[in-house]
Amino acid sequence: MSSPAKVSILISGSGSNLQALINASTSTPPTLPNVTFTRVISDRASAYGLQRATTAGIPTSTLGILPYKKRFPDPSGTPAFQSAREAYDADLAALVLQDKPDMVVCAGFMRILTGAFLEPLEKAGVKIINLHPALHGDLVGAGCIERAWAEFEQGKRAKTGVMVHYVIAAVDEGEPILQREVDMAGCKSLEELQERIHTVEHSLIVEGARKVAEEVASKTAH
Ligand code: GRF
Repeated sequence: MSSPAKVSILISGSGSNLQALINASTSTPPTLPNVTFTRVISDRASAYGLQRATTAGIPTSTLGILPYKKRFPDPSGTPAFQSAREAYDADLAALVLQDKPDMVVCAGFMRILTGAFLEPLEKAGVKIINLHPALHGDLVGAGCIERAWAEFEQGKRAKTGVMVHYVIAAVDEGEPILQREVDMAGCKSLEELQERIHTVEHSLIVEGARKVAEEVASKTAH
C-alpha cells in the first residue's frame, strides 16, 4: 500500500462538502481510502466547517483578508484590492506548504486565488482542485445556482451540473476532473435546486478527490 496522500482543505462556510470527505475517509470500507487530512484552512473564523474539522481531529487555521485590505487599501484598483489579494495569497500558500501536502481541495472556498498562491504550490508539485456548482464552460464565479434557477424560471435552461476541476488563474475554467449533470425538470424552488446540487456535490467531491489522491499515491509509490 502506497503512503497516504496528504490533503489540505480550504473552506469558507458550513463545510458540508468537507464533512462528505471526512465521512468518506472513515466509512467502512472507506470510499476515500489512503488519505490523511493535514489541515483545514478557512478565510472566515465563523465558518462552521472549522468545528467539523476539530471534531474530526484535523488541525485548523483561519486566515482573513481584512488585515491585508487595511495594509493595502486600494478599493478603486482593477481588480480591487489586487495588492491585498496577492499578499494574502502569498501568506496562504506559505501556510499550506508548511504541512507539505500532496494536494489541496477547495471545498466551498469562496476566494478567487491569484498566481501568488498558485505558483508556489505548482512549484512544490501540489495539486489544487475545486468544487464548482456548474458544468465546465457554463456558469462561472459565485451565485451559479441562483443564476441557473433564474434562467430555468425564464424557460431558458433545463439542466445545470457540478464539476470538480483543477484550479488555474482563470476562474472555474481549469481542466475538469469529473462532471455530473443535474436535471432541473420538475424543480419547484431555488431551495429544491440547491438540495439537488448539494447532493451531487457531496458524492462528486469524494470521487474527484479520490481520483487525484490515487494519482498522487501512484506517483509517490515509485
Ligand atoms: C457549495 O455549494 C460549493 O459548490 C460552493 O459553496 C458551497 C459550499 O458548501 N462553492 P459547504 O460549505 O461545503 O456546505
